[in-house]
Amino acid sequence: MALIKTFIFIVIIGLFYVTYIYLNTIHHIPDDGLNSSLLNGYKRPKQGYVVRVDRLEKNCGDIRKIMVENCLKYLDNDEDDYMIPFPTVEGASPPPPCNRDHPSMLFHVFWQGNITDKLALLMKSFLYTQPLECSTLYVWLDNLNDTNLNDNKYIRPLLKYSPTLIEFKLWNMSELLSSSDVYAGWQEPDYFLKSVKLSDLVRFVVLHKYGGIYIDSDVLLVRDMRPLYYANFEFSYRWSMKNEYNTAVLRLWKQSSSSEMVIRGAIKNNMDFHPFNIRKYLSTYENSSVQETNKLIYMLPSALFDPLWLKRDRIQTKSVLSPNFRKFDDFFNSSIIPDEIPGLDPTTFDGSPLDIRNIDNFFRGIFTYHWHNQWKTKIHPTSWIGIIQTAYDEFLSGKQKNLYNEYILRL
Ligand SMILES: *[C@@H]1O[C@H](CO)[C@@H](O)[C@H](O)[C@H]1NC(C)=O
Ligand SMILES: *[C@@H]1O[C@H](CO)[C@@H](O)[C@H](O)[C@H]1NC(C)=O
Ligand SMILES: *[C@@H]1O[C@H](CO)[C@@H](O)[C@H](O)[C@H]1NC(C)=O
Ligand SMILES: *[C@@H]1O[C@H](CO)[C@@H](O)[C@H](O)[C@H]1NC(C)=O
Ligand SMILES: *[C@@H]1O[C@H](CO)[C@@H](O)[C@H](O)[C@H]1NC(C)=O
Ligand SMILES: *[C@@H]1O[C@H](CO)[C@@H](O)[C@H](O)[C@H]1NC(C)=O
Repeated sequence: MALIKTFIFIVIIGLFYVTYIYLNTIHHIPDDGLNSSLLNGYKRPKQGYVVRVDRLEKNCGDIRKIMVENCLKYLDNDEDDYMIPFPTVEGASPPPPCNRDHPSMLFHVFWQGNITDKLALLMKSFLYTQPLECSTLYVWLDNLNDTNLNDNKYIRPLLKYSPTLIEFKLWNMSELLSSSDVYAGWQEPDYFLKSVKLSDLVRFVVLHKYGGIYIDSDVLLVRDMRPLYYANFEFSYRWSMKNEYNTAVLRLWKQSSSSEMVIRGAIKNNMDFHPFNIRKYLSTYENSSVQETNKLIYMLPSALFDPLWLKRDRIQTKSVLSPNFRKFDDFFNSSIIPDEIPGLDPTTFDGSPLDIRNIDNFFRGIFTYHWHNQWKTKIHPTSWIGIIQTAYDEFLSGKQKNLYNEYILRL
């Protein structure tokens, strides 16, 4: 009798085990060779490592010869080639250890008008990707309606990270611009009130005062930014194929001479901070070359921050990206788009977009993703922006790990 009981017990355990293996296997096996769940997460960069700009330039710089996908492949797979221990340079201080006893990496974003899920998404991208023991995000608000942030349903769940990780700050132009001589002669033109022109100014003002990385509110942080942040140069990125800056991502040091040149130049030019004028303000003689202005603010290749731009602008029409978007709206599309995965025909594919969309294979290699101005577009859960939002939310609720295989820091 006892023998039979033991036998039944073993059979039941065995069944559990087989079921466990089976479930585990379907969980890890890629559907139809799509291979998405086999992709590895990233490793955080090694402490004190920074990028080598010459290598980034060599592998991503020439937009006529180097397809964005090859640049991204390089960024994803060849970190050992472009990241090096901080070189000893006179007057330059190496990256501090990552803890709250040392200055943190500082990010800034600016928001006008009522707060929406889009601003919350940027804040979540910060929490999902950056090393939180040594990062802070300043959210600059130009809005008196939302001063009681508890009333805002998008922001309320994020208030527990404030002020340690995320600090809300009221944008007060007259206060900030009276605080330093560099703004001598400034005036507030009427056209500032409701326009991107104000945000073009804000980034230089907050970076001049605090230093850090400014990102536009339609940008998501995708990778640990330390290797760029602590590299020994200030930077922004290239405006598609033009030899001009796109300041949607802008790294400046506190009170740097470059920010002072831009601020003084813009004030002289009727408060015009448009990115197409930045090179002029940085020119030490008329029309300095990019090689010259790069010594002040380095113009990094756009692929690192904005991987779709060259294809969208028909500079690299044959580019095959992953996901293979054609235009900026594709980020918001709830259905599978033709050629999203080359060879996959959306008309015969009977799965859900969720089967093939995974935050782990969203433009691997990029540092940020700039989704370009679709402020009013709804975030549908099966769109790419939707699955990214879900991944952030699951991470913040402690259910899932981030790309670095970490759970959220408990506060
Ligand atoms: C799946 O991914 C692995 C590692 O990234 C790769 O070696 C393998 O060839 C891929 N398989 C398919 C069917 O794409
Ligand atoms: C504040 O709310 C009022 C209506 O209550 C609205 O007209 C105005 O546009 C809002 N201001 C901002 C900056 O969103
Ligand atoms: C902004 O918020 C205010 C108060 O919360 C509301 O009355 C107003 O309609 C909102 N404005 C827009 C443009 O949504
Ligand atoms: C902005 O700063 C000025 C000068 O410090 C102050 O008079 C004004 O009340 C401030 N405005 C707001 C909305 O806090
Ligand atoms: C500098 O550039 C401007 C605008 O492109 C042009 O009009 C001007 O002639 C240039 N000056 C020199 C010295 O090349
Ligand atoms: C989404 O993609 C489908 C398939 O390409 C297309 O028919 C549809 O127009 C797209 N929707 C939007 C809002 O762009």
